[in-house]
Amino acid sequence: MKILVLGSGAREHAIVSTLLRDPAGHDIIAAPGNAGIAQVVETVAMDITKGDVVAAYAEDTAVDLVVIGPEAPLVSGVADALRARGIAVFGPNKSAARLEGSKDFAKEIMDAAGVPTGRAVRASSIEEVNAALDEFGAPYVVKADGLAAGKGVIVTSDREAAHAHAAHYVQYGPVLVEEFLDGQEVSLFVLSDGSTVVPLSPAQDYKRAYDNDEGPNTGGMGAYSPLPWLPTGFVDDIVRTVALPTIREMAERGTPFVGLLYCGLIITARGVRVIEFNARFGDPETQVVLERLDSSLADLLYATATGTLHEAPAPVFSDDVALTVVLASEGYPESPETGRAIFGLNEALTVPGVTIAHAATAASEGGFIATGGRVLSVIARADSFANARTAAYSALDSIQLDGSHFRTDIALRVVS
Ligand code: AMP
Ligand code: GLY
Repeated sequence: MKILVLGSGAREHAIVSTLLRDPAGHDIIAAPGNAGIAQVVETVAMDITKGDVVAAYAEDTAVDLVVIGPEAPLVSGVADALRARGIAVFGPNKSAARLEGSKDFAKEIMDAAGVPTGRAVRASSIEEVNAALDEFGAPYVVKADGLAAGKGVIVTSDREAAHAHAAHYVQYGPVLVEEFLDGQEVSLFVLSDGSTVVPLSPAQDYKRAYDNDEGPNTGGMGAYSPLPWLPTGFVDDIVRTVALPTIREMAERGTPFVGLLYCGLIITARGVRVIEFNARFGDPETQVVLERLDSSLADLLYATATGTLHEAPAPVFSDDVALTVVLASEGYPESPETGRAIFGLNEALTVPGVTIAHAATAASEGGFIATGGRVLSVIARADSFANARTAAYSALDSIQLDGSHFRTDIALRVVS
């Protein structure tokens, strides 16, 4: 197949690497891609948030499938433009991407579909925010309604900080004040062709910047898969109680969801609750989930895009485990330093089981420089989490980027 992958992060690098592993062999193009992706496939500069630009390119180059990685093109309707031209696309239309693009809409769908989620109040003024903060009490959870590049959510016991966050976002639209939920978080990716639902293997993300879940929220500092501590039947239960009702509700409203529904879950003492939906693969969870996928990713994505998931073979996941550790620039997430040289990547790659997905790098003088906050995802696959941790951290020992930081406790809880 000729496949166009949209996006430029470590997630897209992992998607491209997984597609390349497929014995069937595919012709892959990435737009715009990144310096790591450019080492393995052709990359094309393009404004991927413009549906007409992407659709014209896909038509001219006769691609068989477009895979949309990030949320921005989904929310701006790139999938709609492709579908209008009869091009197979993995990723929901704009109307269905609202499950991620509006937290308020996601709550409305969950309420209608009977999906368990945290209680929330929609506030349109700072007075309403204050009343809701008083109602729920500390710790406070405030969420901007729309896309905010991972910065829209605050969880804090500091009422002033919760108030300031809400006061900022409420200028642009409604905010949600939500009850605080306590428990382990699980990311479950579910493929949907609009009616059939196929879950992938669950993963856990590390959202906070520093060890022991301290520091600010980030886009994700690491992940591992599978989750050996999950109760039996967990994935089937989530498909039945979360994914299927949501997918049915979207179909009944005439806005079927075609692509990947990312169920962000929290296991509380009172049961599982959805904390968020995303309309795309998660980053960095994709790096570990796809690392363990032993069957064809292209076949699954194509079946999803073409409404034939019911006849597609179920995905096969390895018994191996995978973890990823994100290397971040100095100052991430607040104000990352960029332009610094990265050394030691080739040596890191000599560690057995280790691969590296690039997130924010640029080629420079025969090497790479960092161009953003999350720079690289170091991925390790092994027969145990202890061995995967040894491999990933020994690879990180070889990598030098001035001032950079990473978490040292990824998957530690499943080793000790
Ligand atoms: P979200 O963008 O909604 O996933 O929120 C980002 C992160 O904030 C989540 O991964 C959680 O770690 C945390 N979070 C979100 N909602 C809640 C909540 N109601 N209670 C506790 N933590 C939350
Ligand atoms: N890892 C969280 C996300 O992709 O939104």
